[in-house]
Amino acid sequence: MIANPTDAKSESLTLDGKEVSFTPGETIYEVATRHRKRIPTLCYDERLEPFGGCRLCAVEVEGSRLPVASCTTKATPGMQIRTSTASVEKHRRTLLEMVASENREIDVDPLRGYASQELSTLLDRYDARTGRFAGAQSGSSRPDDDNPFILRDYDLCISCYRCVRVCAEQEGDHAISVMSRGFHTQITTEFEGLLKHSACTFCGQCVQTCPTGALADRKAMRFAHLSGETKQTRTICPYCGVGCSVDILTKDSTMVGVLPAMDGPANLGALCVKGQFAWDFVQHPDRLATPLVRGADGELQPTDWDTALDRAAEGFRKVVDEHGRHSVYAVASGRAPNEAGYLMQKFVRAGLGTNNVDNCSRA
Ligand code: SF4
Ligand code: SF4
Ligand code: FES
Repeated sequence: MIANPTDAKSESLTLDGKEVSFTPGETIYEVATRHRKRIPTLCYDERLEPFGGCRLCAVEVEGSRLPVASCTTKATPGMQIRTSTASVEKHRRTLLEMVASENREIDVDPLRGYASQELSTLLDRYDARTGRFAGAQSGSSRPDDDNPFILRDYDLCISCYRCVRVCAEQEGDHAISVMSRGFHTQITTEFEGLLKHSACTFCGQCVQTCPTGALADRKAMRFAHLSGETKQTRTICPYCGVGCSVDILTKDSTMVGVLPAMDGPANLGALCVKGQFAWDFVQHPDRLATPLVRGADGELQPTDWDTALDRAAEGFRKVVDEHGRHSVYAVASGRAPNEAGYLMQKFVRAGLGTNNVDNCSRA
């Protein structure tokens, strides 16, 4: 959790030879990143309690015999910190070589998830694809987990536990957990079952925080074969009044996925199953592309907008004439923008003369 530097009186320490101020409660990592130091991390997600598992964020602190994990160590007055000495960088490279030996496929499609490129990017930055520690590997995948949303490819797992922690800390769900230790470590659910039999709500948070793509967005991966650049467009989830920010992923004119916006003011990276996975309607072949009206035979026929609107007006007029203005009740769609919601209530109140109007976002 990031401390607010304005909350308390600041103190100072030395960071790579320069005196800088910090607020009591801040970690070394928070102070260093605020001063644009590029400290690598793998088990860290700024939305979660620091875990201290991967030790990649280690820095040297004067007086400390060993490097310390900067994500879990609080800054203290007078501390002398070195973030990028030759020995620290060597330590990080060796750690990355060991982590890489855990993972069977380093380069995964970015459509797997928001953080899926973190490990491969760090391996390139530290030139750590050496194969120096080839040997035993942990984690067995669950190709039998036939849920439609989340691919569980634990062959790629590096046991950073971000998925377990995001599920517990962000969602309060505790659907996934860690079983065994060492090379027998396995991310799993209660009784080693399938996700759909667990407490999982399919919010996709585990997918989006996984730094290796071991957990992947199964719906997005249907489009991994499409070539071309993936474009990201910021918008708001259309389903409910929470208004979560999302980044829509497209390749040419095809929608290929949704990423949660980590800086979205309403959701800070969180989504529910609808916002994360229920976007097939956008390009579903059954989606209406033209207005329909019923013909004399009772069947729906395509028509133009003027004809359709005239028919709707005629229907409203008939109902009001026969049963009175309060016989009409309108519900605006939560997928419509505010302006359309405003027009809807104006139409019902001023046009039809009733207050029988609501909006499904209110639920
Ligand atoms: S599945 Fe991904 S997020 Fe979970 S422990 Fe493995 S690497 Fe980390
Ligand atoms: S439907 Fe879910 S993801 Fe969409 S705005 Fe509401 S809470 Fe957010
Ligand atoms: S990022 Fe600090 S220990 Fe993993």
